[in-house]
Amino acid sequence: LRPEAFLDRGGCGACTVMVSKRDPTSQEIRHFSVTTCLVPICSLYGAAVTTVEGVGSMKTRLHPVQERIAKSHGTQCGFCTPGMVMSMYTLLRNHPQPSEEQLLEALGGNLCRCTGYRPILASGKTFCLESNGCQQKGTGKCCLDLGENDSSSLGRKSDVSPFALSSPQEYHLTPTRMTENPEKRTLTFHGERVTWISPGTFKDLLELKAKHPEAPLILGNTSLGPAMRSKGCLHPILLSPARISELNVVSKTNDGLTIGAGCSLAQVKDILAERVSELPEEKTQTYRALLKHLKSLASQQIRNMASLGGHIISRHSYSDLNPILAVGNATLNLTSEEGTRRIPLSEHFLAGLASADLKPEEILESVYIPHSQKWEFVSAFRQAQCQQNALPDVNAGMRVLFKEGTDIIEDLSITYGGVGAATVSAHKSCQQLLGRQWDELMLDEACRRLLDEVSLPGWAPGGRVEFKRTLVVSFFFKFYLQVLQELKKLIKPFPVPVSALNSRRYPEISDRFLSALEDFPGTVPQGVQRYQSVDSHQPLQDPVGRPVMHLSGLKHATGEAEFCDDIPMVDKELCMALVTSTRAYAKIISIDLSEALEIPGVVDVITAKDIPGTNGTEDDKLLAVDEVLCVGQIIFAVVAETDVQAKRAIEKIKITYEELEPIIFTIKDAIKHNSFLCPEKKLEQGNIEEAFEKVDQIVEGEVHVGGQEHFYMETQRVLVIPKTEDKELDIYVSTQDPAHVQKTVSSTLNIPINRITCHVKRVGGGFGGKIGRPAVFGAIAAVGALKTGHPIRLVLDREDDMLITGGRHPLFGKYKVGFMNNGRIKALDIECFINGGCTLDDSELVTEFLILKLENAYKIRNLRFRGRACLTNLPSNTAFRGFGFPQGTLVTESCITAVAAKCGLPPEKIREKNMYRTVDKTIYKQAFNPESLIRCWNECLDASSFHNRRKQVEEFNKKNYWKKRGIAVIPMKFSVGFAATSYHQAAALVHIYTDGSVLVTHGGNELGQGIHTKMLQVASRELKIPMSHLHICETSTAMVPNTIATAASVGADINGKAVQNACQILLKRLEPIIKKNPEGTWEEWIEAAFEQRISLSATGYFRGYKAFMDWEKGEGDPFPYYVYGAACSEVEIDCLTGAHKKIRTDIVMDACCSLNPAIDIGQIEGAFIQGMGLYTTEELKYSPEGVLYSRGPDEYKIPTISDVPEEFNVSLLPSSQTPLTIYSSKGLGESGMFLGSSVFFAITDAVAAARKERDIAEDFTVKSPATPEWVRMACADRFTEMVWNYCLFS
Ligand SMILES: Cc1cc2nc3c(=O)[nH]c(=O)nc-3n(C[C@H](O)[C@H](O)[C@H](O)COP(=O)(O)OP(=O)(O)OC[C@H]3O[C@@H](n4cnc5c(N)ncnc54)[C@H](O)[C@@H]3O)c2cc1C
Ligand code: FES
Repeated sequence: LRPEAFLDRGGCGACTVMVSKRDPTSQEIRHFSVTTCLVPICSLYGAAVTTVEGVGSMKTRLHPVQERIAKSHGTQCGFCTPGMVMSMYTLLRNHPQPSEEQLLEALGGNLCRCTGYRPILASGKTFCLESNGCQQKGTGKCCLDLGENDSSSLGRKSDVSPFALSSPQEYHLTPTRMTENPEKRTLTFHGERVTWISPGTFKDLLELKAKHPEAPLILGNTSLGPAMRSKGCLHPILLSPARISELNVVSKTNDGLTIGAGCSLAQVKDILAERVSELPEEKTQTYRALLKHLKSLASQQIRNMASLGGHIISRHSYSDLNPILAVGNATLNLTSEEGTRRIPLSEHFLAGLASADLKPEEILESVYIPHSQKWEFVSAFRQAQCQQNALPDVNAGMRVLFKEGTDIIEDLSITYGGVGAATVSAHKSCQQLLGRQWDELMLDEACRRLLDEVSLPGWAPGGRVEFKRTLVVSFFFKFYLQVLQELKKLIKPFPVPVSALNSRRYPEISDRFLSALEDFPGTVPQGVQRYQSVDSHQPLQDPVGRPVMHLSGLKHATGEAEFCDDIPMVDKELCMALVTSTRAYAKIISIDLSEALEIPGVVDVITAKDIPGTNGTEDDKLLAVDEVLCVGQIIFAVVAETDVQAKRAIEKIKITYEELEPIIFTIKDAIKHNSFLCPEKKLEQGNIEEAFEKVDQIVEGEVHVGGQEHFYMETQRVLVIPKTEDKELDIYVSTQDPAHVQKTVSSTLNIPINRITCHVKRVGGGFGGKIGRPAVFGAIAAVGALKTGHPIRLVLDREDDMLITGGRHPLFGKYKVGFMNNGRIKALDIECFINGGCTLDDSELVTEFLILKLENAYKIRNLRFRGRACLTNLPSNTAFRGFGFPQGTLVTESCITAVAAKCGLPPEKIREKNMYRTVDKTIYKQAFNPESLIRCWNECLDASSFHNRRKQVEEFNKKNYWKKRGIAVIPMKFSVGFAATSYHQAAALVHIYTDGSVLVTHGGNELGQGIHTKMLQVASRELKIPMSHLHICETSTAMVPNTIATAASVGADINGKAVQNACQILLKRLEPIIKKNPEGTWEEWIEAAFEQRISLSATGYFRGYKAFMDWEKGEGDPFPYYVYGAACSEVEIDCLTGAHKKIRTDIVMDACCSLNPAIDIGQIEGAFIQGMGLYTTEELKYSPEGVLYSRGPDEYKIPTISDVPEEFNVSLLPSSQTPLTIYSSKGLGESGMFLGSSVFFAITDAVAAARKERDIAEDFTVKSPATPEWVRMACADRFTEMVWNYCLFS
């Protein structure tokens, strides 16, 4: 149970549990998943709650869901896993053999940042009857339960006996203990500031509402909860009608359906589905439209909690249901002590007009939705940043009624959401179109009128005004075509020609245009993973090269894996919360802490003055002094008894600022003001100017790549425990670099490093974001601990984490490329600028890596690469998986696409023509052999049947005007490691105890990437003992000192070498004993060694790969080796909305001899999906004042399970070798990230096809992420033109 991931947001699913409640009407027990962060504890009266701990445990027995997710390699960091388990468990509770679609729906609200979802889905599919997830389908058993596919049996027999499922009932492990039909008396719970009243009867509810008209009714709390948090509003009294059966009544009549306002949206979905199956199609138009949106509205958990009444009354401008209910002429049944009345769910109600609204003492009892009728059509439209779990940008409900037997409009209603402060009705336009025929003339007029009437203000929620306007008319066009189709069907059965329907006016829709009609259906991803089995001669005990399950997999799945904040509260512990700047660049004039210090429970406020040692560096202070450089800079920290008190105190602190100038946010502004963090980095080869003179053509262009939030599921957190003696401190911290935390705390407190011990058990995702920043939080918390003498816990909530920590550097690139008409590139000049934010951090290093890696897979004789890091007033950007490569190489690949367009050749031809072919030297003169690169490329072309599919894509595009497909294959040469030998050193400490058990400690941190699993595989091979004899407890600076950050893809390489070294030392010492008693057991040898006073502890050391770079000369050997790969992706775009679906991705990666193919494929898939997020959906939004808007999962969209390509295949390149690394394996932590760009280039390929058909220039400015907004606006057509004309002339 992880409620701390996103307090009060409900957007990530990490805190999912199952609630079992008696339905107030049917009295049946309903089991449903909820996100606990939104569930008020009082609402659980009379309910049973099942958490992951209640499902199964390592101590008792595992539930198959837990076992299978772990054994399918569906856990990496494991932070999301309990939520995943609970979503699946609840599904099985209700549907023991679910369909794959139900599985996809159940997991749609659970985010995972590590795995890429495929293995999680694979584990769930083993429960689906129709799935091919397990060969033993239909038997109720699975090979994963039986140990056949049990990677843990490789010397590490699970201590837990999996239980076989003999009947579906066995899923039902938990007792259903809940109060039987609680009495009808009113229950009151008094809190410190809020009173919760839950009446038992409808009469009591009405009485209470009359007595407390200002008190809101609280149902799902999915609207109230987030509002109370974000707007800070407090309701002293809350009325909970959860036990009132009258609010859950459903009644069916001949003309419509009445649904109780208390029904959850999930129930509404079931009710509507049932009605649709019972009634003729013509009567269920509105119900079908509602059902369509109910599938994509929020997540399963939110739909389980949110009520119909709460949804309607909240009147969110983005509401997905209100526009349809409004056009469907729904009415609201209101009740109060005075009696009942009915009001229409009209535009006036939606606009909140008092005359059309509820009275304060009234409640919404139920909603009446009439049937539709013949000659009436209702449709719903919606476009969001991604398909699932995302609020809509714009949505709409549209209804038309024709005069019977004609195409004359008798009634028309259109409403839009997301285009103003409330749901907007286009009432005037609709009135003016009455009596018109449903033809092209009407369409044109309607579009013009709609643009006039739905005139989005410049401040429309979320901006994107032109895009939204375009959707307004594009949706209507879709509606027009849909209705036209339906009319055609209706007309056919008429025996005599209907006078009003003459065929001249009644246009045939060409097949090419029909593509406007279909939405992308949610498809369950499939795929194959291929890797090489180990040599048949390899001893069974030797786990190297085998797909061993993540060591913590089962503990992740049972919730027993302990993360930093799971450490129980320690004696006298205090909480810390951070006070950050609200200004981008300003002088601090005054600070008033007086009110904050008066808040009960507040202990102290920590300022820069409290720091006994150094306050960071001159340019990068831990706590601001006098001046702030960005919104989100830490100024001081409040220490209180509880987290809530600390946060309340923050609200009371008053800081006055004086703005300074110039304030710079963008790269463009930084260039204008010459505002840079470090000198330019440059590499040059050949004679670029001369080459430009000799080429056939030159193209110049620009590329914009947005930044990216790490979005590790476990936010930054630290627990500092001061000891009573010698200023010693124990620090438990979620970090990729504990030695850096230790060093920073030492200099901040001015105490020697040897007094500070940092412990890292496991990290809930890092991706580069936990290299530098944890030291800042550790040091501030340590100052608090030193000053107060208490242990201090500092846990950032998601909003603060996103605000403070920075992420991937946004990039602006300019290129000039010279080439021959056959596509051979002769000269390439790229200049990149990255937005470094307000401090240097890793920006200089990122710039260097960016420049070093820009050439990617291409041999171009004349090159010039330049890069600069801009100094701006944004939070400092930092390391992120790929370290500049994913942004920079997008520029290079965009050049290739631009060259292809100019040469009239497909981009893959240009790629092939310019790729390294033979042993060669890079731009920085490092020699390498590209053989594996070429093999990956060819294998990828083969595996994906690229050339055939390219033809099919072209065929599809010829046949479809409004949908276009695109396909792209991208090669990759990715260099791993740091450009300095000292950064490749690693150490390990291996102890053998007298019972033969072995404790391995090394310098790497477990971030989810499975480093501990791999290290035990290494130790097992070296010591020739099963993995069950080996254990890793944690990473600790006391066990292995002076470690390097676990980063740059080399963690397992270098620590593996150190572990190998330590084990070899130990085995050498044991050799004489083994020789003497070769038939002895491991335990006997160890006993003998102890008797003979042989040390059973050894330190292993790896001095590092040779690596250096001389920037003066532009030469070096900066990287130990390269990882090669290629990815092919195919997508389909909807030119009218900008949505896309990913049809297929094939990846071939050169892992050489993988230490653990399951873990490595997990890294490739996870990185690929994260890369796909970078290039398609993840968009950081700032206010004009530099405040980050996108500070949670609702505004910042990382990929969800429904974003996985429909077919997703990954293969490891067979029989590739590298002599340099441990057992010839390669580090794959980062490289897959860039391959996500194959989706981006497939999208741009589709956009180019649309533009070509519409005769618009094919070279367009490349902008990542390719969001629906970008795609829609790039696919310019008559509707975008209408919008531009409208903007010009209005
Ligand atoms: C993560 C997340 C994602 C979401 N995604 C979407 C989305 O994609 N599309 C979309 O349209 N919406 C979305 N929503 C919004 C969601 O649909 C609404 O929050 C929800 O429907 C509100 O219902 P509730 O029962 O939780 O209301 P509550 O929060 O319990 O109450 C909301 C308001 O309604 C009033 N109220 C409730 N019932 C009654 C009644 N019977 N009579 C009078 N007043 C009443 C309350 O007084 C209160 O003011 C999302 C919400 C979350 C948290
Ligand atoms: S394993 Fe899912 S977030 Fe890490």
